[in-house]
Amino acid sequence: MKEKKIYDQKSAGIQLIKLGELDKGIQQLKVYSEDHPDDLDVLTILGESYLKLQQSSLAQDYFSQALEINPTHTSNLINFSALELKGPNYLTALKSFHKRIKPKRYIEIGVCKGASFELVDPRVHAIGIDPDPQLDVKDLPEKHVVRVETSDSYFSSDKIIKDLEGDPFDMAFLDGMHLFEFALRDLMNLEKYSKPTSVVFIHDLYPMNAETAKRDRIADFWSGDVWKLVLCLQKYRPDLDLSILPCPPTGLGAVTKLDSNSTVLIDNYSEIIKEYIDMTYEEIKQNKSEKLKLLSIDEMESVMVL
Ligand SMILES: C[S@@+](CC[C@H](N)C(=O)[O-])C[C@H]1O[C@@H](n2cnc3c(N)ncnc32)[C@H](O)[C@@H]1O
Repeated sequence: MKEKKIYDQKSAGIQLIKLGELDKGIQQLKVYSEDHPDDLDVLTILGESYLKLQQSSLAQDYFSQALEINPTHTSNLINFSALELKGPNYLTALKSFHKRIKPKRYIEIGVCKGASFELVDPRVHAIGIDPDPQLDVKDLPEKHVVRVETSDSYFSSDKIIKDLEGDPFDMAFLDGMHLFEFALRDLMNLEKYSKPTSVVFIHDLYPMNAETAKRDRIADFWSGDVWKLVLCLQKYRPDLDLSILPCPPTGLGAVTKLDSNSTVLIDNYSEIIKEYIDMTYEEIKQNKSEKLKLLSIDEMESVMVL
């Protein structure tokens, strides 16, 4: 019996892709997409298909078109970011930094389920700070502790002196509240307990688009306006060495040459907040990688030997 083949181009293309006929399916969907440029599903499937074919720039192009239609689509943002930021995922990078830096004392702000905190060797003296940790804080290695409170509350007491036994920290990861002023205060507070060789890593300094770079969280994928810290530190603290590593999904900052005696950020705090709080993504949209000092993969290699 002659099979009924009343497929339109869209379903025929999708079917071909499901059957592994990627090239033929892509051709069908591209013809369909010319007449239906706003079909999010088709743009997404085209991006994913080119990804499977390892044709990165075409994949990136389709994910970018899809994100114009829905800027908060989680899987498209994840795929797009892995194409824009060509380095290792931030957790892989942090794992490697733990091996190289071999910190004796480690501080993490924003622990959540522990994906980054659990990278820390059990022999390292590690302090996590999070008002709402999603891991079992009673079941940690003996030298690891999670303080269940906000970072502002933690730093307002002298707990850190006891927790660090009066010594400076060697490595820190800042990944708490994704708002500029919180991240700024976290860095200001941490720096007081640093030494010249301490390294602070900061998550989310390289946003993917305007929607996910806003102060209001409207989707799961959200890096907030922590990116303003890059502009702020370039202006107010040129003495710091700041590199933005191309680690998906939203970049990883590495800050060195910290100065525990510096009061520049503290002294200018109100002025800094006024200057940056209302800034929008438009400010960095053009030439984003230059403005946010994004390192290339080759340049990242040199930072990896910190
Ligand atoms: C993105 S998650 C951290 C993820 C974790 N670092 C990782 O890589 O798996 C952000 C965490 O910051 C915490 N947080 C929110 N506001 C905070 C604050 N003011 N101080 C410290 N942590 C905060 C949240 O409770 C949340 O668990």
